[in-house]
Amino acid sequence: AAVPVLTIDGPGGAGKGTISRLVADRLGWHLLDSGALYRLTALAAVKHEVALDDEARVAEVAAELDVAFVAESEATRVLLEGEDATTTIRTEQIGDAASRVAALPAVREALLKRQRDFRKSPGLVADGRDMGTVVFPEAPLKVFLTASAEERARRRHLQLREAGVDASLSSLLKEIQARDARDMQRSVAPLVPADDAVELDTTSLTIPEVVNRLTDLLTERG
Ligand code: C5P
Repeated sequence: AAVPVLTIDGPGGAGKGTISRLVADRLGWHLLDSGALYRLTALAAVKHEVALDDEARVAEVAAELDVAFVAESEATRVLLEGEDATTTIRTEQIGDAASRVAALPAVREALLKRQRDFRKSPGLVADGRDMGTVVFPEAPLKVFLTASAEERARRRHLQLREAGVDASLSSLLKEIQARDARDMQRSVAPLVPADDAVELDTTSLTIPEVVNRLTDLLTERG
C-alpha cells in the first residue's frame, strides 16, 4: 500500500512546526518541514549573491541545494553546504526572503521532487502551505491549521522572547499580515485549504489539544 501522508498546511505562526513535529514523534513518522527548504533556498541565494528575483538562477540554487536534516534529541539541526544554518534560517529576514523566492514557479518546481522524496515508510507528516494542494494531493488526511493574526503575533513574540530577542508586537503583527498577503495572493500554489482539508482554528487551543485532535482524526480515517 502507499505510504500514508498527513499534510498540515496553513499560515505562518499557526503552530504547524511544533504540531507537526509532535505528531510525527508520536506516530514514529518522518517529517517534512517544507518551509525550511524555501528558507534554505533563500539563504543559499543570499550566500551565493544571487538576486532573489532572478527566477532562473534561484531555481538553479534550489535544484542544487546541498542540505542535511540531522535529527537530534530536542530539535532537528539543519546544515547548508555542511554549515549549521539552524538558527540563521529562522530570522525574519530569511523568512521574508523565503516568501519572495517561494513566489517563483521555477523555484517551486525545482523543490517538488525533493519534497516528495521525504515520503518513506511508515509515514510522513508534511508541513507547509501547499502540501495538500500541490505536493501530496492524494494524501489521505489533510489539515489546514489557522489562528488569528493577533494570536500568531503573540505566539511569535513569546517564542522570540524565550530566545532572548526583543521584538515589538505591533511590528510582528505587520510582518505576519504582509507575509500572509504575499502567500495567499501569489499566482502559483497560493495558500488555500485543499477542498478535502479539515480546517482547525487553534486560536484558543493548547498544543496538546491540537496534537490529540489530529491523532484522533488519523485514527478515525485510518
Ligand atoms: O513555514 P515557514 O515560515 O518556514 O515558510 C517560509 C516561507 O516559505 C513562507 O512564508 C512561504 O512563503 C514559503 N513556503 C511555501 N510553501 C511551503 C512552505 C513554505 O511557499 N510549502
